Amino acid sequence: MVHVLIATEKPFAAEALEKIGKVFRKAGYELHLLEKYTSKDQLLTAVKGMDALIVRSDIVDQEVLEAAPQLRIVVRAGAGYDNIDGTTASRKGIVVMNTPGMNANAVAELAIGLAIYGLRSMFSGKQGGELRDRTLGLHGFGYVARNVFHIARAMGMKVIVYTRYSKEAAAAIGLKVTHSLEELYHKSDIISIHVPAKGEHLKSVGNQVLKGLKEDAIIINTARKEVINEGELLAAMEEKPGIRYLTDVAPDRKAEFLERFKDRFYATPVKIGAQTNEANNNAGVAAAEQIVAFFQHGDISCQVN
Ligand code: 3PG
Repeated sequence: MVHVLIATEKPFAAEALEKIGKVFRKAGYELHLLEKYTSKDQLLTAVKGMDALIVRSDIVDQEVLEAAPQLRIVVRAGAGYDNIDGTTASRKGIVVMNTPGMNANAVAELAIGLAIYGLRSMFSGKQGGELRDRTLGLHGFGYVARNVFHIARAMGMKVIVYTRYSKEAAAAIGLKVTHSLEELYHKSDIISIHVPAKGEHLKSVGNQVLKGLKEDAIIINTARKEVINEGELLAAMEEKPGIRYLTDVAPDRKAEFLERFKDRFYATPVKIGAQTNEANNNAGVAAAEQIVAFFQHGDISCQVN
């Protein structure tokens, strides 16, 4: 009997849980649920004796992995897997997967929503602007960015992108790829960030790119807080009083952003990018199916470690 734990501080929608349950019932697996837990100890206890684990942004560090001697697979129901200690997992022979693209539309729609909110002066009643004919710069070109691109283009925006890894995919759909990140930030009216919190992306939104921003540029971040150099962004917003920053991933210095720039800074109360029924259904069911395929056929096609 395969034991699967879903551990989610931020639970899946009820409908998604029902669908996930169906997948495991059909496979004959036993599903355990740990939702809205408030301490790591609860997770450490729950993970014991589990063969598979499904999480969202929940932290799966060395201690969690060590507490689960039977664990064979961890699936992050979502895109970013920076919450999982892949190195320890690899050392222990545990497969780590994500569910690529499954919540991309939800995050993309939020990015566009934040862009409109920013452009319309945070719905304050002050004069705003329109998306049409403005230039949207995509920082990164993964699944979310591709969804943003389609929506933005349908709304009449000009879209440009900076990517090192997906140049051909971008060019194939007629998207202009800038030569540098500096060029992207310099030419865009609105920048939407879609890169993971790793490697060269860490703190990549710093002075180097911010110095070339247009006076009234809007930066949207539905990716990760770690890609921002917060001190340098605060300084850029001080220097150019038209710059707005709207984010679904609260900065470490959120209080300072709010205090200094309350008309030009907005952070969602919790990360809501993937918080839709549809995204939960897609990512949750994909995670469940990937676990079944892994145990039944050794399928590791979504492995990331
Ligand atoms: C992701 O990486 O998939 C998103 O950040 C969504 O995270 P969440 O599942 O914690 O909402």
